[in-house]
Amino acid sequence: MTPQEEIIELRQQLEQHNYNYYVLSQPTISDFEFDAMLRRLQDLEKQYPEMYDPNSPTMRVGSDINQKFVQVNHRYPMLSLANTYNEAEIREWYDRVVKGLDGEKPQIVCELKFDGVSISLWYDDGMLTRAVTRGDGIQGDDVTANVRTIRSIPLKLQGDFPKILEMRGEVLMPWKVFDQLNHERELQEEQLFANPRNATSGTIKQQNSAIVAQRHLDAYLYYVLGEQLPATTHYENLMAAKHWGFKISEHIKLANSIDDIMAFITYWDEQRHQLPFATDGVVLKVNDIHQQQELGLTAKSPRWAIAFKFQAEKACTRLNSISYQVGRTGAITPVANLDPVLLAGTIVKRASLHNADIIKQLDLHIGDMVFVEKGGEIIPKITGVDISQRSFMAGPEVEFITRCPECGTPLVKDPAEAAHYCPNDQCPPQRIGKIIHFVSRKAMDIDGLGEETIQLMYQQKLLTNIADIYQLTAPQIANLERMGTKSAHNIIQAINDSKKVPFTRVLFAIGIRFVGQTVAKQVAMAMRNIDNIIAADKTTLMAIDGVGEKIANSIIHYCADPQNIEIINRLRQYGLQMQISENEQQQQSNKLSGMTFVISGVFSKHSREQYKAMIENNGGKNVASVSAKTTYILAGDNMGPAKLQKAQQLGVKIISEDDFLTMIDNNDNDE
Ligand code: IVH
Repeated sequence: MTPQEEIIELRQQLEQHNYNYYVLSQPTISDFEFDAMLRRLQDLEKQYPEMYDPNSPTMRVGSDINQKFVQVNHRYPMLSLANTYNEAEIREWYDRVVKGLDGEKPQIVCELKFDGVSISLWYDDGMLTRAVTRGDGIQGDDVTANVRTIRSIPLKLQGDFPKILEMRGEVLMPWKVFDQLNHERELQEEQLFANPRNATSGTIKQQNSAIVAQRHLDAYLYYVLGEQLPATTHYENLMAAKHWGFKISEHIKLANSIDDIMAFITYWDEQRHQLPFATDGVVLKVNDIHQQQELGLTAKSPRWAIAFKFQAEKACTRLNSISYQVGRTGAITPVANLDPVLLAGTIVKRASLHNADIIKQLDLHIGDMVFVEKGGEIIPKITGVDISQRSFMAGPEVEFITRCPECGTPLVKDPAEAAHYCPNDQCPPQRIGKIIHFVSRKAMDIDGLGEETIQLMYQQKLLTNIADIYQLTAPQIANLERMGTKSAHNIIQAINDSKKVPFTRVLFAIGIRFVGQTVAKQVAMAMRNIDNIIAADKTTLMAIDGVGEKIANSIIHYCADPQNIEIINRLRQYGLQMQISENEQQQQSNKLSGMTFVISGVFSKHSREQYKAMIENNGGKNVASVSAKTTYILAGDNMGPAKLQKAQQLGVKIISEDDFLTMIDNNDNDE
């Protein structure tokens, strides 16, 4: 077998295994075998760049390079559905449909209404060519690179598919993934996603497709469009789509009467809590496509379909007290303690109250009977008070605390922000929280130092700040409860390994308020090293992309504290990276700043990925498709004809590899 043939074979096999795992949930090989095959394919593709294929299984890991979304017109407008919360209106809709069909009783396809983000997928000759968000229904964002990372979406179709096909469906985040993501965000003190839908839409609009790949989105498809569909009913088309490799819900039912429809609704109103993803209702569609055409559309939605939305689940219970939690940055989170109550299948004892303003708006009194809702949100919230049940025994109006519940320091509040803060950075939960953040996976990634161990080490005064981590000894760790010499050795090893973590992550790890991963990266790349950051004034900091006044002030505030500087100096002494690496430094320039590039074709001197990285490293931006805003097209051999035509139309300049390398002065670097 030639390497080219092996590439083709591996792609085909990997796509099949992907399908078995993510669509059928029936893997036939181990993860280990799958990874080995994928690595082999990655190696071969590196050696044979002319075999580039945007739909190769290797593309599912995404890319670290930021993309900009291009707006594209939908081939068919993306209509929305009429919806109702009311069973009587479902009966009225059904009667209208029967009347519209001159008394004929139609078959109705009953489906779940998935609570995610709608997507349109285009397939030409069985290849995924584009994925577009709904946008305003006429135009949406081209999010193809992100959608390619969703494993349950086929990149190549199987069997007898139409030459030109459009599939509509819903991208969603399963509960398990959502819970895990929010848990991680909580540890990082990043704002939590309110529900899986928000998390999905935040993810699908990510500029960095490698992040999308890590978020494990899923997708169900529910509508087939095209000129040459295999059948004249919606249901049969969906079943055909299943054979082409799409994930189609197992919970679709054909109904022959309004009673069947009502039974479906009643069943899922209860059972939906058992599903591994969020649903907010059911969708009813006339099955026969001719009947659909007969019924037609209104201005906004088809007459042949309707959505029934489930009520957000609500319960009424007593508010017993309010607790206040202190986070690593000192932010205070109020939490309501409630009489346990059953809500959407789980027992709820606590509800989020967000901040002082919300408490004020609700006019809460301790002892009040309050309404708790869980409308697709994982953290229940209090939405109101049942005043009619307020007794003369009720306590006084809830007053937000004025002092830190942990250290007693008076709280502060910036009028521009909703949260109260404890300004004392010696406050134990802040100190412990900072250490937990520092060792977390996205920061220094020190495995083995879990939250409980850190708490214990803090109590025993082994750790009082992040720098102390590097003075821990194996015997000290081994002496702790539930530790042994082996785990102590592993932790020491992980601590030593963390000294290699690049500066961008060190800057994130030290935990400056408002400096998240992205900001840390921007600041590190712009300022090069910690000393420049410490010396920088507000104007210098605000000149960095992504840094506004709030962040600049926070960095300056952090650096003005001698204790922080001492910690930084100690970390430097222990050997942590306090500047961007040689490699990054050499490559970095602003030569391409303000320019956008589209890469097309096959190259001989460097790979596409390398060119993309060179553009980014020199301050330029990569975009996926040509528009009037494109500065250059970097063209190799066999540039796509559509791109060429568009470039000529818009007068965008086309440059060769050599032109580009001269531009960034890198021609001596040829391989
Ligand atoms: S069918 C013309 N089926 O609900 C019919 N939509 O406005 C197009 N949705 O934005 C839609 N589950 O994203 C259909 N089984 C399902 C659905 C579904 C969720 C979403 C869709 C659309 C919204 C309705």
